[in-house]
Amino acid sequence: MALVKDILVSMDYGPAPEANEPVVGWLDLHKDGFNHFIDGKFVAPSEGKRFPVFNPAHETELAQVAQGSAADVDKAVKAARKAFKSWSALSGHERAVYLYAIARHIQKRERFLSVLETMDNGKPIRETRDIDIPLVARHFYHHAGWAELVESEFPGEGPVGVCGQIIPWNFPLLMLAWKIAPALAAGNTVVLKPAEYTPLTALAFAEICREVGLPAGVVNIVTGDGVTGNAIVEHADIDKIAFTGSTEVGRIIREKTAGTGKKLSLELGGKSPFIVFEDADLDGAVEGVVDAIWFNQGQVCCAGSRLLVQEGVAEAVYAKLRARMANLRVGDPLDKSVDMGAIVDPVQLKRIKELVAKGEAEGATLFQANKGLPAKGCFFPPSLFTNVAPASTIAEVEIFGPVLAAMTFRTPDEAVAIANNSRYGLAASVWSENINLSLDVAAKLKAGVVWINGTNMFDAAAGFGGYRESGYGREGGREGMAEYLKPVTDKSLKADEKVAAKLSPLPVADEEISGLPSIDRTAKLYVGGKQARPDSGYSYTVLGPKGQPISQAGLGNRKDIRNAVEAAGKAGSWGGATAHNRAQVLYYVAENLSSRAKEFEARIVAMTGASAKAAAEEVAVSIRRTFWYAAQADKFDGAVHSTKSRHVTLAMNEPFGTMGILCPDEAPLLGFVSLVMPAIAMGNRVVIVPSSSHPLAATDFYQILDTSDVPAGVVNIVTGERDVLAKTLAEHDDVAALWYFGSKAGSALVEKASSGNLKPVWANQGIPRRWTENSAQGREFLRRATQVKNIWVPYGE
Ligand code: NAI
Repeated sequence: MALVKDILVSMDYGPAPEANEPVVGWLDLHKDGFNHFIDGKFVAPSEGKRFPVFNPAHETELAQVAQGSAADVDKAVKAARKAFKSWSALSGHERAVYLYAIARHIQKRERFLSVLETMDNGKPIRETRDIDIPLVARHFYHHAGWAELVESEFPGEGPVGVCGQIIPWNFPLLMLAWKIAPALAAGNTVVLKPAEYTPLTALAFAEICREVGLPAGVVNIVTGDGVTGNAIVEHADIDKIAFTGSTEVGRIIREKTAGTGKKLSLELGGKSPFIVFEDADLDGAVEGVVDAIWFNQGQVCCAGSRLLVQEGVAEAVYAKLRARMANLRVGDPLDKSVDMGAIVDPVQLKRIKELVAKGEAEGATLFQANKGLPAKGCFFPPSLFTNVAPASTIAEVEIFGPVLAAMTFRTPDEAVAIANNSRYGLAASVWSENINLSLDVAAKLKAGVVWINGTNMFDAAAGFGGYRESGYGREGGREGMAEYLKPVTDKSLKADEKVAAKLSPLPVADEEISGLPSIDRTAKLYVGGKQARPDSGYSYTVLGPKGQPISQAGLGNRKDIRNAVEAAGKAGSWGGATAHNRAQVLYYVAENLSSRAKEFEARIVAMTGASAKAAAEEVAVSIRRTFWYAAQADKFDGAVHSTKSRHVTLAMNEPFGTMGILCPDEAPLLGFVSLVMPAIAMGNRVVIVPSSSHPLAATDFYQILDTSDVPAGVVNIVTGERDVLAKTLAEHDDVAALWYFGSKAGSALVEKASSGNLKPVWANQGIPRRWTENSAQGREFLRRATQVKNIWVPYGE
């Protein structure tokens, strides 16, 4: 018999399995196969096809689940469309009552759902019981609150419509909650597809919807694989797609939805850095690593999968980690004393094994503390790679398994450089006892979430989502709600097709530009604070209202856009300037525009044939709008969220960096001003293409920029064929966000072309037809010019 003192050393103890009889009983009730949940009823798959779902820990079949066809998806969309009318007509309070009821029912069934999730996914019961399912309930409670408040907190906004939601397998029910709760709170109806490996808790959730009497068609669940997901993406009567999953599929969805007008949010992969400075509490940091990479077997999009340790403490940290790894218990996830459960599926296990083999082949040193994995089942031991080269596969590729890649750094700047050297930007974790250092680094990291002396913390009140190729849009909190709302007066800018015509190139005359260009003068481009000749050496004729030539403008090309993006890249200090500084510059712009109002009015009349009154109004609104954005520069700031105890979460509105902007033809000055001002007020630099047919108000604007202390490179203007230049901007990796207000075909073109670096694109949505209207100005523009970084800071008791 083992002695207590030996047990205290070995930490071996007997199994403590959670009872699973209620779940087994429930599965037994469905042994003939699960159905879809459509229009409030469980309905058999139209093609009669089902697929098996396994318990990855035991490799046993749990259930047969319906494979959704395009016809099933269509049925679900029709039900959702029908239900949308009455559901969106309810008051927020009435919807809140349902969401509270769902939250309460989830709490009542917490044990059942935890066990079911563990059996389906393979994650330890400790996690489903203490993290996943409580967070699910929290999410519905929080969003019941948003439903209650939606009219007062989001005046002038309403639901988007029918939402297609596609979720992954790593947090099956939690991802469902992240998608369904805000959608319903805002008044939308949904068609949701759970991942094929883990559809069971979504079906249990469907039962909860029935129990609480949720009106039929508000929530529809269609099970199936990528084919079913694709049918949702391609369905014409869906207004928004929300997706969480791989960057690869996110990219496909971006391309497929291009030009359809569907709203899109993507929450994709990551390779998040976990940075340990030498003054950190090393034991705390090591516990942090355990939560960062071995939580949920590392199958977490924001897993701290790149450990960056300051050189002086690297060996000490590795030694502590190896010792800690030796005590991690891998085993049956239903065992309450297990730290790590099973990998979701043999396919994922194979992927992990291949990447680990690649890491070894690349020369990194692998350590696995193997206390003995269960003989059967889909298990992989906690793994640590040291001596990892920053450019190697395991340092760059998302492994999505319990595998940590460790690297060292010398200085904070180097840590930031390595951390940001990734195509992803989902999350980051910073460990130091020096709050100055931590906050300085947090500000410099390109990530949507930063945890200081913590990791993998989530809360419904804080937004979650990525920078760069980790996707766009946020889930949770106010920003998450905004993804499911749109202006109620949204008439959507009518696509302006008349300028799709090709511009004919003419050689640029070699003369100086002074004052207003006349017919024999060519308005040049404006790049890096200087006028520049177009690279092509060509210009095009700008026509007046009667079709008469009134001037020449530079015909910008791909090279000019590249130069402009480079110039914008060099003006990075603009984002770091104080908001007060930026406000002052914008005030100065407004004043200078005001003092030259008459010239601009005359220019508009000459270019467009507008009446003197209309031109005066356009200039007057342009001036007021510039003042308004100047005023907002130091006021559109973030928030401090109350999330977890002993923490606050700082939601910082950060600029994207370099933005590409394509202007509409209507209101050539006001369209330009309405788009440039919010973008630069928030600290972005812009490369802007003015109206192709009426570019001269923008080219006259150089003089305003020159005399208003706008730093060189903050505003770069390239004239030419809008859609040709738009494509180059959309494809450019250093352009972090794109606004396009042009033709419908152009929207499709830029949305598709943006899938390379997955930049967020705002194309022709939500803008009233007339730019003079008040709704062509506002917080929506500022919101679209920023991305929120949520920084979790230890605070209070
Ligand atoms: P996946 O992206 O293929 O699957 C996610 C969801 O998308 C599932 O519901 C799937 O059925 C659906 N889907 C697949 N193809 C689709 C298509 N063409 N159109 C619409 N929906 C489609 O992810 P998968 O294959 O399960 O995992 C592969 C890798 O993706 C993982 O190793 C990991 O690196 C990453 N991943 C990242 C997640 C995250 O939370 N960021 C979650 C899951 C996977």
